[in-house]
Amino acid sequence: MKRTAVPLLLVLCLALAAYFIFFRSKEKDRPVEATLLLDSSALGITTIASGLNVPWEICWGPDGQIWFTEQSGSISKVDPRTGEKKLLLTIPEVFRKRSLGMLGMAIHPQQPYIFVDYTALKPDSSVVSKLVRYTYTADTLKNPLLLMELPGATGHNGSRVAVSPDGKVIWSTGDATRGANAPDTASPNGKVLRLNTDGSIPADNPYPGNPMWSRGHRNIQGLAYTDKGHLFASEHGDAMDDEINYIQKAAFYGWPRIEGLADRDDEKPYADSFPFTPPAKAWTPTIAPAGIAYYHASKIPEWQNAILMTTLKTSSLRVLQLNAAQDAVTGEKIYLGGIFGRLRAVCVSPDGDVYVATSNRDWNPGKGFPIEADDRIIRISPVAKTHNPIRPLKEDTLAVTLSKGQALYKSYCDACHKADGKGIQGSFPALDGNALVNGKPQALVKIILNGQSGNMKGGEQMPAFKFLSDADVTAIVNYTRKSWSNKAYEISFEDVERFRKR
Ligand code: HEC
Repeated sequence: MKRTAVPLLLVLCLALAAYFIFFRSKEKDRPVEATLLLDSSALGITTIASGLNVPWEICWGPDGQIWFTEQSGSISKVDPRTGEKKLLLTIPEVFRKRSLGMLGMAIHPQQPYIFVDYTALKPDSSVVSKLVRYTYTADTLKNPLLLMELPGATGHNGSRVAVSPDGKVIWSTGDATRGANAPDTASPNGKVLRLNTDGSIPADNPYPGNPMWSRGHRNIQGLAYTDKGHLFASEHGDAMDDEINYIQKAAFYGWPRIEGLADRDDEKPYADSFPFTPPAKAWTPTIAPAGIAYYHASKIPEWQNAILMTTLKTSSLRVLQLNAAQDAVTGEKIYLGGIFGRLRAVCVSPDGDVYVATSNRDWNPGKGFPIEADDRIIRISPVAKTHNPIRPLKEDTLAVTLSKGQALYKSYCDACHKADGKGIQGSFPALDGNALVNGKPQALVKIILNGQSGNMKGGEQMPAFKFLSDADVTAIVNYTRKSWSNKAYEISFEDVERFRKR
């Protein structure tokens, strides 16, 4: 080899290395991991960011990047083209425990403000929820201004933030585990609140001097405006009736007296005695809805004029078709069931790509999660039809045939007590090997019908399932008494009927 060839080769190698380091790492075409087939579109799914810890909210930022909160107290952004992440701010006073921590965020479209809300502890250890405004320049968040502070609790602290088309700050709050807060016009909990960007109360709020915009909410987990400016909110029900609501000025949504559609006998009198706005849709068994976003881009024609809704319990992305007036849900499609685990947040880029954040490192992960890559932000975007589907996904992969008792247990119990019956220590008691489950059946039936509370450190409660038929309760009781290591005797339909009357 000639002497001059050596440095030449060296230069060539360096150039190649530089190409791979600087250009390939910033490649635009990140690998498509799965393909979702709709009626006419094929959608590719690509991981944009991994190794996150419960990205609770994701927003499309003014710089074309995705800004996100993480539950432990940080605000960061990620470039969706390169995957490059940048930490913008950590808020040390954020108190994270179970469902508490750094939660919602919204970016003002005209002014350089972002609004975040989180839980913090007072010196006396009581929990508060704070809504704080930051002013941003390119990469800094400065001048925190506390807009509002309200009482919190060990659960049901909501929440989401949104900016209305008329530039107001919308904050949805949970009932702070006290149902009576929700209808009470004097309490800020269990409400959708509306404030000016400096925290003052707009003159055209329904109750003068009151931040309340709507009431009777249990625990709102998603907020989004449609292109017509209609506000929708997803909400967690108790043992039944998760909801999506069309939020209107001064409307009353029923909690705690009415769950879902006021279809039970014990609810009807209340629905008649005050003006009650029913949900646009309700789900029993519950699905644990989370973040929502409105879709109207032409990029995915099948999803136009729909609310995209993530869910935790059923780990799915739901596409809720709206009518032309955007005041009713006319259809529902279910995607991604279980494949990426719990889904917490969703946002849509101006050109119509959909971004979804997982929540597998939260306090209540599903079976098989978190995986190493968790938590992730994924992009869902059309791919050429000829693209080789790596892993085609079916709509509603949740529809598995299970025995009746097992199916009911999966719908109503395993979100807390888990499929293996082992629960979560300190929060949800194990039913496997549980003396009460294996003992005289009356106590077990009574707990299922009436719920139970007061024994868990974190304040978790067992919801009441009295809306289940005797046949369903019988199936659940026998399933729990015969599953895992449990070997108790079966009970009959008549037993449940009798116990219910006692
Ligand atoms: C939202 C979470 C949640 C769901 C859903 C749930 N439970 Fe529970 N369950 C709890 C909690 C929390 C407790 C403990 C309550 C307490 O005693 O303070 C509990 C307690 C129990 C107990 C009593 C255990 C003991 O040792 O005292 C039984 C039995 C039980 N649940 C069965 C069920 C069955 C069957 C279902 C489904 C129909 C179900 N649970 C659904 C949260 C849940």
